[in-house]
Amino acid sequence: MAKIRVRARAVDMLGRQQIAGIPTAIHELFKNAHDAYAKHVEVDYFRGDSAFVLRDDGFGMTREEFEGKWLTIGTESKINANDLPIPKFLGEGVERRPVLGEKGIGRLAIATIGPQVLVLTRAIREDGLHDLVVSFIHWGLFEIPGIDVDQIEIPVGTLLGGQLPDSKFVEGLVCRVRENVEGLPASVTSELKNTLISQLATFNINPAAVEDSLGFPSLRGDGHGTHFYGSSD
Ligand SMILES: Nc1ncnc2c1ncn2[C@@H]1O[C@H](COP(=O)(O)OP(=O)(O)OP(=O)(O)O)[C@@H](O)[C@H]1O
Ligand SMILES: [Mg+2]
Repeated sequence: MAKIRVRARAVDMLGRQQIAGIPTAIHELFKNAHDAYAKHVEVDYFRGDSAFVLRDDGFGMTREEFEGKWLTIGTESKINANDLPIPKFLGEGVERRPVLGEKGIGRLAIATIGPQVLVLTRAIREDGLHDLVVSFIHWGLFEIPGIDVDQIEIPVGTLLGGQLPDSKFVEGLVCRVRENVEGLPASVTSELKNTLISQLATFNINPAAVEDSLGFPSLRGDGHGTHFYGSSD
């Protein structure tokens, strides 16, 4: 007996390489915000800092959902979604939205916008608001030839609901990715490792400070939804 092994590059090919460009990528992310019953989606691009922020005020993801759906390729989470009752936590009078997602790979579009991304998501469910889930991904790791997808670790942290991560919190997640890069097998050249490590060192986004200047939709207080902070360098 044998098993199919999945190279890390497969994720890159399904995501970044399938997406025609930034407009298509934003379209995929807006589709996801629509499916999460968001009322607002905002995209901001800061040319000077090569940074982009995409924020929706949808129903977000719990930690289990983030790991089981967002970090799981080919999720079938939206199959039959059109036949299910509209979640009660959305409030009275919310009209059903036809679900746009079908394939389970659209979120990988985010890799097209920039190689490094911080994901913040906070869920609202029947039992109320959940804690904030924060994760950081360097998509460049998925371009490394010769490594399997399970050799790449994605750090995920949680913060008490209503709070936002500061630079120190973000630094902690980035540091774990750096350790992952350093620990990759010797078949990955030190030149490639050093390139990734120096890119990681440039990622210094502070969502708490950025949100102060951007305002709504916010994850502070009783805010919920999914926000992406990316660097397009
Ligand atoms: N903005 C978001 N808010 C809440 N959940 C989200 C968001 N983006 C993604 N998800 C969750 O992650 C899952 C994967 O999203 P993805 O776009 O990859 O697949 P899909 O929407 O099911 O199908 P498609 O590939 O056709 O877009 C979604 O089914 C949803 O559960
Ligand atoms: Mg989608």
